[in-house]
Parts: sequence; structure tokens; C-alpha cells
Amino acid sequence: MNLDWNALVAEMVATGEFHPAGLDALALERDYGEGRTVIRTEGSRIIAHASVEDRTSESQYPLYEIRRVYVAAGNGNGTAQEIIAELIKRFTPKEEELPGKNPTFFLISKNPALWHIASKLGFHVVTKFTMPNVREWAKRAGLGKRLPRSATARNPHHSKRRKRWLLMR
Ligand SMILES: CC(C)(COP(=O)(O)OP(=O)(O)OC[C@H]1O[C@@H](n2cnc3c(N)ncnc32)[C@H](O)[C@@H]1OP(=O)(O)O)[C@@H](O)C(=O)NCCC(=O)NCCS
Repeated sequence: MNLDWNALVAEMVATGEFHPAGLDALALERDYGEGRTVIRTEGSRIIAHASVEDRTSESQYPLYEIRRVYVAAGNGNGTAQEIIAELIKRFTPKEEELPGKNPTFFLISKNPALWHIASKLGFHVVTKFTMPNVREWAKRAGLGKRLPRSATARNPHHSKRRKRWLLMR
């Protein structure tokens, strides 16, 4: 069965939660083919999607970003948590292969449901108060301008606007 990656991109864009420039059907399909993505399907339709982007800069400290988390309306009930947990498991080496340290996972989101899910999975909000070198860290991770302002703000909790937060575990 051919999966409809174009339809997935259209659905994700329609949520308004993703930058359309970062969503390309061929790229998503390639990530999936190369094992970086977990999906749920219904026939040819992809009803849930989450992928990992390798942000490792020093090989002894693997760093992965969870990206493009999407669950089609009506298919919730823990699906997002399930597929993120599956990705974390896939990218965490088994105990005996572990060189002494678990990989670090992070995600950036302005979606309260995702904050809730991430905190259930052991992620914590990161700001310069919890990680003084967050700016340098983001640079090494290749985040560029994607580092949320909340991570470096003097009063990160002070704005009424819905903010993007950096969460890490
Ligand atoms: C965010 C999204 C992935 C959540 O997926 P889901 O599996 O359908 O989530 P659910 O509806 O099962 O809710 C998950 C949990 O979040 C909680 N939740 C929902 N809305 C919430 C809110 N506004 N504040 C806090 N928690 C919330 C639910 O109660 C549930 O908690 P529980 O499992 O402890 O009972 C999905 O809604 C989505 O794809 N949204 C559009 C795209 C998007 O915003 N993606 C994130 C981009 S970074």
C-alpha cells in the first residue's frame, strides 16, 4: 500500500502548528524509510507521525530532537505519547551497548498537549536558569534561530502569549 505523504503534509500544514517550509513530503518519506520516523496508518492515510532528527555534535553525547509530531483529530487517546515513546526507545541503545550515558532528547513546542505528554515522558522545560549555557548548547545543536525566546528570556514565564518552550530529557 502506497502511503500518502502529500496528504500528511497538507494535514500538518492545515493545523497551523508547523512552518510549511519545513514540511516536504519527499523528505518525510525519506526520513521514514531511513528509520527516523514512527507513524500510524489507516489504509494509505498516515494518521500519526513523529520523527527524530540527529543533533549530535560530539559522538559521546548523542542528542536527538523529536520533531513533526502530528496526530489527526479523533485519533488521540495517547497516540502521540505512544509514538514519541517508541522513537525514544528506538534511539536509546540497549543497556549492554550503552557507553555509559543515555542519549539526550529534546523538543520545541508551543502546544500545551505536547508539553503535557512530554512531561509525562520525563522531559523538563529548559531555560537559561536551568541551563546557563543554553545559547551555546543550541548553537552546537545547530538550532540557530529556532531556540525559543523563552529559553533565554529574563522573565520566561511572564508573557501572556502562547510560547514555544524547549523541553529536554
Ligand atoms: C499535539 C498532538 C500531537 C497531541 O496528540 P494526541 O495523541 O491526539 O493527544 P491527546 O488528545 O491524546 O492528548 C494527550 C494528552 O494531552 C492532554 N492535553 C490535551 N490538551 C491539553 C491542554 N490544552 N493542556 C494540557 N494538556 C492537554 C490530554 O488530556 C492528554 O493527557 P493524558 O494522556 O494524560 O490524558 C495533536 O493534537 C496534534 O497533532 N496537534 C496538531 C499538531 C501539533 O500541534 N503538533 C505539535 C507541533 S510541535
